[in-house]
Amino acid sequence: MHRAKAYVPIKKTFARLNPALTFAMPSILLELDGVSKEYNPGAGEKISILRNIELRVSKGAALAVVGPSGSGKSTLLNIIGTLDRPSSGRVLLDGRDLAQLDERDLAKVRNREIGFIFQAHHLLPQCTVLENVLVPTLVDRGTPTDEARARRLLERVGLGGRLDHRPGQISGGERQRVAVVRALINGPKLLLADEPTGALDRVSSQNLGELLLQLNAEEGVTLIVVTHALDLAKRMNRTYELRDGKLVEAL
Ligand SMILES: Nc1ncnc2c1ncn2[C@@H]1O[C@H](COP(=O)(O)OP(=O)(O)OP(=O)(O)O)[C@@H](O)[C@H]1O
Ligand SMILES: [Mg+2]
Repeated sequence: MHRAKAYVPIKKTFARLNPALTFAMPSILLELDGVSKEYNPGAGEKISILRNIELRVSKGAALAVVGPSGSGKSTLLNIIGTLDRPSSGRVLLDGRDLAQLDERDLAKVRNREIGFIFQAHHLLPQCTVLENVLVPTLVDRGTPTDEARARRLLERVGLGGRLDHRPGQISGGERQRVAVVRALINGPKLLLADEPTGALDRVSSQNLGELLLQLNAEEGVTLIVVTHALDLAKRMNRTYELRDGKLVEAL
């Protein structure tokens, strides 16, 4: 039997014995079970990028993934974020096997449960800061509550005075902070960041790293950051290194 399935009855048993115990047991948000990814670019050729990756991430954790260029960090993050599928193995988010969901349900998971921050901010140049942040809420026809949350979060990240600016009128660090708020607007369980500080100078990069960690604590969102910045990586709960297709915990 699969470990995640075994976990729930054990948890229920504990809860019957003593409800307080369930709070002491960290619950798993994300589980990768023998995840591999291969590409077949030409006749007979096979490139193996990820090899039998096993990973368990507790709710509320913050972890970093480092590794050389081309080692598969973005591939791994895209698989976790349902933007790509593994060649074999399973990804479970909150106990659900993502491979079992149809495109409609996957789109919902992507929109509501997962927030993405990329190296490039991908903000819409013609929209204001506030409008950009509200884009992910439009799927559910955005409500006044969404707008209030957007304003509060933008204020929180120091952009309360930039709501009506367009991306072209703010700095690179400010644009990444807008991207962070946009990723958080629907209250995701999981925040995935792929080299979010890659295009920033050292100070802005440190500030953004600090902000991600604070939001991880304040919003209770589980954080996975791919980064080349070792100082940022070291400040997470755990750091993993991707090398030769394997994910190993870096101490
Ligand atoms: N669609 C594809 N077809 C074939 N090979 C691919 C494809 N996408 C990615 N790769 C290869 O997979 C490997 C891992 O790519 P990935 O983008 O995940 O690396 P990365 O660790 O994020 O690198 P970087 O630090 O430069 O961003 C690379 O060697 C890349 O060339
Ligand atoms: Mg990458």
